[in-house]
Amino acid sequence: MLGGTSKTSASQTAKDMERELHRTFRRLYASKPRFFRAPGRVNLIGEHTDYNDGFVLPMAIDRGITVAAAPRQDRRVRVFSASMNESREFDLDYPGPRQRGLWLDYVEGVAHALMSRGVRLRGADLALTSDLSIGGGLSSSAALEISVGKALLAVSDQDLDLVSLALAGQQAEHQYVGAKCGIMDQFTAAMGRAGHALLIDCRKLEGTPIPLNLPDSSVVICDTKVRHSLAASEYNARRSECDRAVAALREVLPGVKALRDVTPAELDRWEACLPEPVRSRARHVVTENERTLDAARALAAGDMVRTGRLMDASHRSLREDYQVSCPELDLMVAAATAVPGVFGARMTGGGFGGCTVSLVRSDAVENFRTSVSRDYERATGIKPAIFTVIASDGVQELAFYHGQGETD
Ligand code: GLA
Repeated sequence: MLGGTSKTSASQTAKDMERELHRTFRRLYASKPRFFRAPGRVNLIGEHTDYNDGFVLPMAIDRGITVAAAPRQDRRVRVFSASMNESREFDLDYPGPRQRGLWLDYVEGVAHALMSRGVRLRGADLALTSDLSIGGGLSSSAALEISVGKALLAVSDQDLDLVSLALAGQQAEHQYVGAKCGIMDQFTAAMGRAGHALLIDCRKLEGTPIPLNLPDSSVVICDTKVRHSLAASEYNARRSECDRAVAALREVLPGVKALRDVTPAELDRWEACLPEPVRSRARHVVTENERTLDAARALAAGDMVRTGRLMDASHRSLREDYQVSCPELDLMVAAATAVPGVFGARMTGGGFGGCTVSLVRSDAVENFRTSVSRDYERATGIKPAIFTVIASDGVQELAFYHGQGETD
């Protein structure tokens, strides 16, 4: 199984955290909770294509956020975050101010996004715990939105399809958090599939599971431990550059609604109409869509060499054409690709810090860990976190706790 080496430790940590969360919940609140968990994600390829109606190829990972939840008789939602070690609350009928820069923005945002879709929510007591580093580039925010959204729906006896839940999470980001993200992270947290990556068509909002049944390869994450402050402003700048590319290309290609609709041949023919840096941004998106479809075929065929080459090309394109990499990500990728047994490596997520993802022969992972950690620390003075991940399911109620909480 791809990425199989970390299973025991990651799931053991998650179980210990859930037990601790149960104790915390019983200390804080009088009621008996149900438990819900949503995963983080790593994107194998297809970066900055989701908000261009394009294709992405992420997988949900075996790290995530767990929520313990019970209904209340009134309209309040009380939330305790174990990672932040603090409690906050809000009233479902009186929305608080938006974009306060608090972790509560995600929770309150998803509650209001669900209600704006006609869902009737009840008040709830919630406690959360996480084995994902917060803001570390593995989509802890989407895991938070989707786990809380699922918990609120369940304790309110309401049902909602997973695509709508993902859209509610994205709406929370847009309205309450103030981040104009695409749909990839929430879609993956909601609909990831164990043992598979998901090829998501971000226009149709459809995910096709791509099996990752390759016995001798691992997906390895390297966390640079840096997050540059320009990430949010540059993200929004890239979005508007893509919009400018679409507006200009529409003059000559009237059918174009998004960069997804432009083929590489059309871009070659018309790119002179685009000023820089808009031209380079468009080139990244158009070529990245092709690479993503190509990588999905290669992965499904078990062709790790081809998948790895596409990942390398994706990183070059993100660094040179899209310009969302940074020295730490480039150093990490260079350190990774220098190790024997590495098929490919690239930055993953929005960029300007966060994590890289590498495809590594399983028997080379130990050497990879030592050598990348040493090279990166030597160059930056920062000790990275390096770990393998397993493709996991999207949001779920945890059966272990369902209706059989501890009796003490
Ligand atoms: C962030 C966003 C996603 C996506 C990536 C870049 O993770 O939340 O929607 O745009 O950046 O691929």
